[in-house]
Amino acid sequence: MNAPAPCRPPADLRFPIYLDYGATTPVDPQVARVMCDFLTDKFGNAASSSHPFGWEARRAVEHARTQVAGLVGAQPGEIVWTSGATESNNLAIKGTAHALRAQGRGKHLITVATEHKAVLDTMNTLEKSGFDVTYLQPGTDGLITLEQFRAALRPDTLLASVMYVNNEIGVIQPIAALGELCAERGIVFHVDAVQAAGKIVIDLTRLKVDLMSFSAHKVYGPKGIGALYVRHNPALTLEAQIDGGGHENGMRSGTLATHQIVGMGEAFALAGQLLAEEGQRIRALRDRLWQGLAELPGVQLNGSAEERVPHNLNVSFPPTRYGTLASQLLGIAVSAGSACNSAAAAPSFVLLAIGRSPEVARNAVRFSLGRGTTEAEIDYVVATVRQVLAHDAIDGTA
Ligand SMILES: Cc1ncc(COP(=O)(O)O)c(C=O)c1O
Repeated sequence: MNAPAPCRPPADLRFPIYLDYGATTPVDPQVARVMCDFLTDKFGNAASSSHPFGWEARRAVEHARTQVAGLVGAQPGEIVWTSGATESNNLAIKGTAHALRAQGRGKHLITVATEHKAVLDTMNTLEKSGFDVTYLQPGTDGLITLEQFRAALRPDTLLASVMYVNNEIGVIQPIAALGELCAERGIVFHVDAVQAAGKIVIDLTRLKVDLMSFSAHKVYGPKGIGALYVRHNPALTLEAQIDGGGHENGMRSGTLATHQIVGMGEAFALAGQLLAEEGQRIRALRDRLWQGLAELPGVQLNGSAEERVPHNLNVSFPPTRYGTLASQLLGIAVSAGSACNSAAAAPSFVLLAIGRSPEVARNAVRFSLGRGTTEAEIDYVVATVRQVLAHDAIDGTA
């Protein structure tokens, strides 16, 4: 038997269909327009304090700082520019761990087994230099509990790092309650909010979070730029991970990438304007997708059905005779795990950590929806999945 013929697409669909917004997003045209000026005309160095080219760049950088801070309830002075969230996570975790150990404050760190590699590998490096790390195992819903977190605390715990929204399964951790616990115990609390920014409301005036990581390219901004929120608190010390000219109050040296920074600022401002309406629209599309898939035999949703962002649906399908379903969704860009792990054939460590079998994990598809997703695309995806599975069932009985 041959592999199934693809569904006939409606004329108004554009291929390939992109349903991998969790990996990255296109730069919004409004963002790209703002950036262009800062590559050509407004090319000054924000550190040049003696002439108008530098003043103009400095003003733009500070305006962008206000825009990023505005989306998350921070003060502009609490935003430190980085090259992306990988760097933000490194700076937050290594910077705190080293600074506090130097003060003799302890050597214990807490994180979750399903964090992004930018956190897990950072923790791993710290273990090699003598820190103790506890990796909390989430439940089958992908979430950790307060009891579990409380039980892991030690008198020498310095820092906890828990992601807001998981990049593979989209679940939302109980950040507000965890922050309260950390604040009571004087533990520095870091949150990787890359997959939360622009998707759910983040209000740092209410959350007891000390450090929060952001990336522009998940929010319709450019790649290669991110930020770390560092709460104004004289007791909070961070050891710089990149030394040089003392930029960003000595926390991160290097000439500021003005065009990237203004892009991130514009992208975050736009995300704030669109958040409520876009969230509602994407939730309806995600529900339509799930309605189309849920009743198919052997289909399982990965992660909590309730505590999740609208933008993510991670689903395991039964294996087919031609391999995984993901490999047969021709013309549809989805991910079998996170972008950073999809090169590896191994099943997703996140799905294994929430108790899925290697086979179920290997047959998972992450559908991540975004600003460009349409109803016609969702209907085509549902029809394609149904056709692949129906064809497989006929083949199987032949
Ligand atoms: C949750 C999470 N943290 C960190 C990162 C790394 O971000 P960046 O690509 O900006 O280094 C990603 C990107 O995949 C992510 O999804």
